[in-house]
Amino acid sequence: MHLTKAEERILDGQEGRAQQLAMRLLVAIGDAYDASRMVKIRSAQISGISYKTIGDPGLEFLKEISSEGAVATVRSMLNPAGMDLSRWRELGISEQFAGKQLEIMQCFEKMKIEPTCTCIPYHENNAPLKREHVAWAESSAVVFANSVLEAHTNREGGPTALASSILGISPLYGMHLEEHRLPTHLVRVKCKLNIDLGYSLLGYWLGKNLESSVPRIDGVPRNPSHDKLKALCASMAASGSISMFSVKKEDREPRAEIIDVHREELNEIANLLSSEGSYEHVALGCPHLSLHEMRTIAAMVSGKQMKKKLWCFTSRHIRDQARQYGYVASIERAGGNVICDTCIVVSPMVESGVDGLVANSCKAAHYLRSLSRVETRLMGLEECVKYALA
Ligand code: F3S
Repeated sequence: MHLTKAEERILDGQEGRAQQLAMRLLVAIGDAYDASRMVKIRSAQISGISYKTIGDPGLEFLKEISSEGAVATVRSMLNPAGMDLSRWRELGISEQFAGKQLEIMQCFEKMKIEPTCTCIPYHENNAPLKREHVAWAESSAVVFANSVLEAHTNREGGPTALASSILGISPLYGMHLEEHRLPTHLVRVKCKLNIDLGYSLLGYWLGKNLESSVPRIDGVPRNPSHDKLKALCASMAASGSISMFSVKKEDREPRAEIIDVHREELNEIANLLSSEGSYEHVALGCPHLSLHEMRTIAAMVSGKQMKKKLWCFTSRHIRDQARQYGYVASIERAGGNVICDTCIVVSPMVESGVDGLVANSCKAAHYLRSLSRVETRLMGLEECVKYALA
């Protein structure tokens, strides 16, 4: 691939070892995907933050690269960590786990990467504009950025997003190029999607059956809310490798294959990920809850008392806003818990005596079942809240 003089200098090691390692990685990826050159990015979002998922090898890598003087050169954000960074003790996280997680956070702090610790980086006052290039790693946020914000990003891994954060560039291939963003399939949804769970089930079915295509989805209500699209993005990315979809009527679909999705297909996914068990825990916020969802939960539980344990996962940024509006107080008065910086999948919270839980996310169900051997029962967000109160 073509490199500028400045990029060549970095590759030769003249700008430091960390920069050289980052450039080597991006050039290797660029060569593998036939990228013609690098493109400047507006922001990076890095995954692989939880000690639960990266363990000691990941921590050692971060210690090494941060001690080499690597620093972010564009705004850079983090995916959820393995615990609430301030309330981990009361949530039962062990000293040993917390110590390692805090070491990870120190490495990122040294590299001047913001401890946003959220999978909804587009709610951090930094959403990219249409056609802006970013290098984001959280798969649900990648689909959201490409499809809803119309920004351009590939589905980065933790190391490539970190390399892009250090250098402010990304190899120009894949979803950065217009020709890869045209719909490959026309999906006609033949049933009603009334609640957030319907979008989550549809996304999961599409990811599972269409692999890495670009579906244009027809038959969903006009202008679905961002929360519904967030659910669609997350499950699509969890069951497959789709990086983008479209719900816009005007998108062209030359030679797009036509696929119809009926209620039966969505039921098939519900049967796969949802059991009929009666569980004591309800987890909401995969992806992290928006302010609007926090308001919905707060209004539903106001003046009531939970009969089950309700965990609401969100970002510190949204939590602070929700606090100002009184939503956090309302949820906590009812006995619910608002948890920041982490999520039900990447924290070890389910490892101590949780054998099943109720959730509104196919992505959460997918990973809880496959990684943590935890049973799940799926419902829409409002049904989940009612279940927690009953
Ligand atoms: Fe976010 Fe964790 Fe789900 S990172 S999308 S809440 S698995």
